[in-house]
Amino acid sequence: MKKALYSGSFDPITNGHLDIITRASKMFDKLIVGVIHNPNKTPLFSVEERVKMIEALIVDLPNVEVDNFTGLLADYVNNNRFDAVVRGLRATTDFEYEIQMAQMNSKLFSPGTESVFLMTNPEYSFISSSVIKEVVALNGKVDSLVPPIVLEEIKKKFSK
Ligand code: COA
Repeated sequence: MKKALYSGSFDPITNGHLDIITRASKMFDKLIVGVIHNPNKTPLFSVEERVKMIEALIVDLPNVEVDNFTGLLADYVNNNRFDAVVRGLRATTDFEYEIQMAQMNSKLFSPGTESVFLMTNPEYSFISSSVIKEVVALNGKVDSLVPPIVLEEIKKKFSK
């Protein structure tokens, strides 16, 4: 059984992430979406809120589960015996960061664990969680870029 991890801060999850999750779920027997607290970022949503949103969006993907973790990605990957770590590439700008991370991780992962890259659907190649939050905060329209439940949750946060 091949098990993969798709990790990120997902603050919040977008249609770009969902596209990667859906495609990766067809490539592996099991896919875990790993929500991580990235200490370099100040999140809008708590880890629990982010996990809850993702859980609601993967109900139709039976081989996908959500988990959360802190600390070094490689420790979580090795402790849970993942065969692969999936990452999405949106543009050439992602490549430099991703190759550095993948090469560093290749030193840290247990033998046999691979980083696997999927090209992001061009419809979503320009989005990030931050740009979505910024546009919603300024009352811009992002209906085609995030699931309705996510849009509602972002609006709720900004109305407080
Ligand atoms: N569609 C839409 N947006 C996408 C996307 C896609 N397919 N892929 C990435 N993004 C967005 C993310 O939402 C994120 O937006 P934001 O910066 O506005 O929050 C941005 O692109 C960057 O994504 P990513 O590179 O996945 O950053 P991240 O913070 O979500 O996750 C970690 C990075 C947490 C996985 C990485 O830092 C990590 O592994 N940390 C653990 C510590 C560790 O092991 N460090 C050593 C690594 S070698």
